[in-house]
Amino acid sequence: MVSGYEFEPKILGFLCNWCCYAGADLAGVSRYQYPTNMRVIRVMCSGRVDPAFIFQAFLGGIDGVFIGGCWLGECHYGVGGNYHALSLIHIVKKVMKLIGVNPERLRLEWVSASEGNRFAEVVTDFTKNLKKLGPLGTEEGMDDNGFKLKLEAAKNLVPYVKLIEREKLRVHFDTEEEYAEFFSSTEVDRLFNELIVDKLAISRIMLLLRENPLSTGEISETLGLNPSEVSRHLAASARQGIVRFDERRKRFSTVLS
Ligand code: FES
Repeated sequence: MVSGYEFEPKILGFLCNWCCYAGADLAGVSRYQYPTNMRVIRVMCSGRVDPAFIFQAFLGGIDGVFIGGCWLGECHYGVGGNYHALSLIHIVKKVMKLIGVNPERLRLEWVSASEGNRFAEVVTDFTKNLKKLGPLGTEEGMDDNGFKLKLEAAKNLVPYVKLIEREKLRVHFDTEEEYAEFFSSTEVDRLFNELIVDKLAISRIMLLLRENPLSTGEISETLGLNPSEVSRHLAASARQGIVRFDERRKRFSTVLS
């Protein structure tokens, strides 16, 4: 390692046009000092940020994703895109934890158009935290391929995650604390384990089989999953016609590969 090298995290920021983006603008014209690690994408509302954008950013080598929206109750779009963003971010953080990505790499903040100083402060703080965490993947201690496979599997799962959010986890509270309490409840954890954990494992298995036909043992070793769990998923997928078993080679492959 080159001596004196300081890790500079790459940050992707999705900023709501009506508040946080204007706050960033104000920070600039007011000449507030803050790190320049963030590249910005302007969106019309924090609720426009699809979870797939987040996983795609990580897949593209981004170390941290920042989402900036209007304060709760001040979203420009009816009931509140920012409430929707808040729910989804809680769920995405759970998925990140499940695949071994530190949820602190994703940050949602409210910044109004008049809060240039607050924008500078939260970006400075986020950058500082990411510097402590280090480059994406190293802190998580995973080899590049295994890590990418997990991120890819999580991204593929997004349509299903959105469906679960809409059908089972759509709630409305007034405060962030109430959202935090709801999403950390045992009831939500149970639902999450029941509906998402298995789907994520299957998604990872499918991605692996897309590359090569493999045996149950090879899959379980590569993905670090329990062999009986892998067998269960393969049996269910075979029943659904998604995978097939080659008797001669004793290997599973995907039907669509
Ligand atoms: Fe800013 Fe919805 S318009 S968060």
